[in-house]
Amino acid sequence: MKDIARQSMSIKVESMDMLNGQIKMEAHASAIYLAMASWCEQNGFFTSAKFFFKQAEEEREHMMKIFNFLIDTGGSPISPEISNINHDYSSIVDVFESTLEHEVKVTTSIHNIVKKARELGDITTERFLDWFVMEQVEEENTIRDILDMIEVTGTEGVGLQMIDNQVANWIE
Ligand code: FEO
Repeated sequence: MKDIARQSMSIKVESMDMLNGQIKMEAHASAIYLAMASWCEQNGFFTSAKFFFKQAEEEREHMMKIFNFLIDTGGSPISPEISNINHDYSSIVDVFESTLEHEVKVTTSIHNIVKKARELGDITTERFLDWFVMEQVEEENTIRDILDMIEVTGTEGVGLQMIDNQVANWIE
């Protein structure tokens, strides 16, 4: 990117670089959830598959929100390369535990960009990320609630099918 273009941006260069990292992370999340949807379909968890298809779409929307923000602020969004998508899970519990683990990483990453933007006095980026901070609270809460439901239901006997049926409560 030419220096003059970087100078005319309404956000800081360091913020843009971190936001490009976040674009990649959201795209990666979208791909992971698509792989989870595939696993759920193949293993008979059809409601959970629907849940993950929807999550995959949402993550792509998150990616595009950041992509468009970089365009609006005169930056250069980078279309991410995605690889190393795990398709192998040991159980439906493993799928949801991995989801929570991933969402916690996303939250940490967003908080780090907010902290950096604050340090740089980049108010535009800091304000833009407000929505993402609250979205992460909601997403983590959803997955924690599903894991609580799994624990209460139990995975013995018809438990697994009941778990899958109940996931419908978290599909908006
Ligand atoms: Fe967009 Fe669930 O992170």
